[in-house]
Amino acid sequence: MIGTEAATAPAPASTIAPTKRENRLDGITFRPATEAEWPTVSANFYSMWQDMGLSSMIVEDCATQTLKFLGSDRATELKVCPIVAVADDKVVGSGLCQLFEGYYPLIYKTSEYREGWIWGVYVSPEYRKRGIAEQIVKTCNERLKEIGCTHSLLHAAPGKPGRRVYSRMGYTDYELMELHLE
Ligand SMILES: CC(C)(COP(=O)(O)OP(=O)(O)OC[C@H]1O[C@@H](n2cnc3c(N)ncnc32)[C@H](O)[C@@H]1OP(=O)(O)O)[C@@H](O)C(=O)NCCC(=O)NCCS
Repeated sequence: MIGTEAATAPAPASTIAPTKRENRLDGITFRPATEAEWPTVSANFYSMWQDMGLSSMIVEDCATQTLKFLGSDRATELKVCPIVAVADDKVVGSGLCQLFEGYYPLIYKTSEYREGWIWGVYVSPEYRKRGIAEQIVKTCNERLKEIGCTHSLLHAAPGKPGRRVYSRMGYTDYELMELHLE
């Protein structure tokens, strides 16, 4: 059994190379979307569902409804902010953040607990794996802090690549439970 122990023993700290990543975000800007970019952000939201193989559960006019929502009074109340990643003069990724007002009346002391919600994170296939999604989420979180949020929430479908991005950033599973009512 000595051989097994040797195989599973952790390497001495000095031999573990630190994870070093080349910066692949040069030339990419992260900022709130202009109104002219809202249609792209809305289309990206639908592409996100398609890419995850879940578009059959989404209404076909998803992008139209999203665009309508962005221009609504409700979106203003919730301080919805679409964020875009821009490279080569085009939107190559997007995500949105807003106050979360679900569940029940806002009974938390907001100084203690105020939830922000991030949704619609999508990066064009040819721009993936260079840290754009992570930076979109970070930009959303800066905005959430500015509007008084203490916590950042999002949905991360099991087995989908977004989950690894969020876990690496420090997101953890939360106490929400679900029952499928048949
Ligand atoms: C999920 C999604 C948003 C990720 O976008 P992305 O910009 O590629 O994400 P990131 O670049 O931040 O991270 C992706 C991977 O690239 C790696 N990466 C990031 N920067 C890197 C760099 N400079 N060098 C090497 N690797 C890098 C990350 O470590 C990560 O690796 P992992 O998949 O092994 O965890 C994108 O794949 C997508 O739009 N998918 C379809 C829609 C979707 O699933 N959205 C999420 C809904 S929850």
